[in-house]
Amino acid sequence: MSSSVSVANEGGVAIVTIDNPPVNALSFHVREPLMQALAALRDDASVAAIVIACAGRTFVAGADITEFGKPMQHPELRAIVAVLEAIAKPTVAAIQGTALGGGLELALGCHFRVADQGARLGLPEVKLGILPGGGGTVRLPRLVGAAKALKMIVSGTPIGADEAYGAGLVDAVFEGDLTTHVVNFVREMARKGGPFTPVRDRDDVIKETDLAAFDAEVADLARKARGLEAPVACAQAVRNAVTLPFDEALAEERALFVKLVASDQSRAQRHLFFAEREAAKLPGKDVVKRRIARVGVIGAGTMGGGIAMAFANGGFPVTLLETSQEALRRGLATIEKNYTVSVARGSLSEDAKRQRLAQFKGTVDHADLADCDLIVEAAFEDMAVKKEIFGKLDAVARPGAILATNTSYLDIDEIAASTSRPQDVLGLHFFSPANVMKLLEIVRAEKTAPDALATVVDLARRIGKVAVVVGVCHGFVGNRMLAARGSESEALLLEGATPSQIDKAFTDFGWPMGPFQMGDLAGLDIGWRNRKARGLTAVIADTLCEQGRFGQKTGRGFYLYENGSRMPVPDPEVEALIRGKAAEKGIVPRTIGADEIIERTLYPLINEGAKILEEGIAARASDIDVVWVNGYGFPVGKGGPMFWAGLEGAARIVGRLRYWHERTGKNVFKPAPLLERMAETGSWQV
Ligand code: 3HC
Repeated sequence: MSSSVSVANEGGVAIVTIDNPPVNALSFHVREPLMQALAALRDDASVAAIVIACAGRTFVAGADITEFGKPMQHPELRAIVAVLEAIAKPTVAAIQGTALGGGLELALGCHFRVADQGARLGLPEVKLGILPGGGGTVRLPRLVGAAKALKMIVSGTPIGADEAYGAGLVDAVFEGDLTTHVVNFVREMARKGGPFTPVRDRDDVIKETDLAAFDAEVADLARKARGLEAPVACAQAVRNAVTLPFDEALAEERALFVKLVASDQSRAQRHLFFAEREAAKLPGKDVVKRRIARVGVIGAGTMGGGIAMAFANGGFPVTLLETSQEALRRGLATIEKNYTVSVARGSLSEDAKRQRLAQFKGTVDHADLADCDLIVEAAFEDMAVKKEIFGKLDAVARPGAILATNTSYLDIDEIAASTSRPQDVLGLHFFSPANVMKLLEIVRAEKTAPDALATVVDLARRIGKVAVVVGVCHGFVGNRMLAARGSESEALLLEGATPSQIDKAFTDFGWPMGPFQMGDLAGLDIGWRNRKARGLTAVIADTLCEQGRFGQKTGRGFYLYENGSRMPVPDPEVEALIRGKAAEKGIVPRTIGADEIIERTLYPLINEGAKILEEGIAARASDIDVVWVNGYGFPVGKGGPMFWAGLEGAARIVGRLRYWHERTGKNVFKPAPLLERMAETGSWQV
């Protein structure tokens, strides 16, 4: 046997062990010996039962994603599952860690599935822009029913062992040494002598499907898919499992898989899978990380409270500092309220809520931060305020504690210089709500020590964040590019587009919402204050703010929000205001198409991304994609702005930027040299 697959015979029970670190993916060098092993064991009279197990921390986590887009090397997973499923002796999958994608499909080829208590099982292919291609859409519904299978396959979210047991996906759950339990389990099954019905022949559960209810669910899913093809194909495949004979449904699944795996959307989503993992890699592997046992957070407002919750959720005790007992009380009350909402929604147990709340210690005294290993400042966005705080931290924090600021724009080198330990200072730019949003921009200041940086990159992963290391500049990666995207919004309004036309162009592109809806949600006053501080103006947005129209929170912004609703309603008053301002400037309105809207907003965004790469503010184009997908809702099916630039054609983007630059003279349209090079070479390499 190859080193990737080995077989041991324990008194008539054959244990096939897959060993392909780190996640036991079903690479070609696993599939080939696995197929041979199964065929041999099928015909081996000394073998009464077969266990499929994995070495290391996890069961098979899926097909080998690096093989997608390359010529398929046989045997395919489907063929292996077919051989496995046809074996008459009892077969069982011993699942620890995660059984995902092709891993779960392999397990579905067995008569039985036995799981460790901590195991998780799922079909996450949809997140890669594909659907399960190894029979998962056809076999899973036969065990858990069409409705549950639809939910699992379209969401891609794995379920725990107990839930899988309740749903009929696994036959037993054990704690402790899984191999011993599984061998005993399968011996018992062999002793009973069957019947050993392959999953493909189990039709009882799907026969009960309420097709009308199923179709209603699918229609809803299709609406929510926002142009993504994979969720729709997943739903179609599960429906086929119910309505078509097994082999026909399997063939349809294959056809959908082949189509999707070759699509730009899947390429984009696979790009993001690897980009997220790449972003967390720092040069210099041997850096010893600092120990983080307690985290301090300064400021218990929306941002500080969210950050404190993010750390508490990750298992860290948190000291929360405010300027007064009253502000502290309010901050802690909001945190408690947020956890209560999670309990009401069923995503948190009462017990877990109590445990989380017990992690918090409130204080108004900086000296109480002395035992913190990381302190995150989330106070008012003002340089003088930040400097004063960092001066105080310098006096009280223990030597080696990491001092972080959550600033969105300010110069972290300047903040670091206000301490005697700039090597310990860095930026942790969380996105609101900080306990929910995945993205964390980690800002490396000029003097930040490599071990401080490595520590927070590791910490980010531990609290479930997707981290991207960026350099110091105004707005870092995300907000700097956002400013470039927004710079033409006003001009488009004045020239004739309405807020809802612009927002629709964005949602049609795949964004969850357009810039004006987003502005209303975030609060228009934030940008207004920011502009005033920098001596900038935005005629429409400023006028709205002067009228007290701050967005959703005041019931009026670019849109109307009636009776506390979050649903934006176009407001004729705003449209009249825009036309009035345009007339003052002598602008005659014209019809503006969606293509122009996208061109004038997203091309400058990409252009700014190119400048960010040139300046070394981001290390890789894929890091920028990770920022935009996880922090700003850039459509996953387009892979992030820099990946999408490749799909759209960098040469086209440069051409159109030049056109707009000539027409307007605006700097945002002046193509960056790196973008021009990308148009020639197809690479973002600086
Ligand atoms: N193929 C190839 N490489 C994979 C992989 C896969 N399926 N899954 C993980 N890896 C790699 C990662 O890229 C990473 O490589 P790196 O160290 O060089 O960066 C390494 O394995 C470790 O992965 P993580 O950093 O993600 O490790 P975690 O412990 O955090 O997570 C995991 C483990 C939950 C298994 C996570 O890696 C994961 O979700 N993997 C993908 C699972 C998946 O999508 N499976 C379906 C694949 S498609 C399929 O099966 C098609 C079939 O239907 C035909």
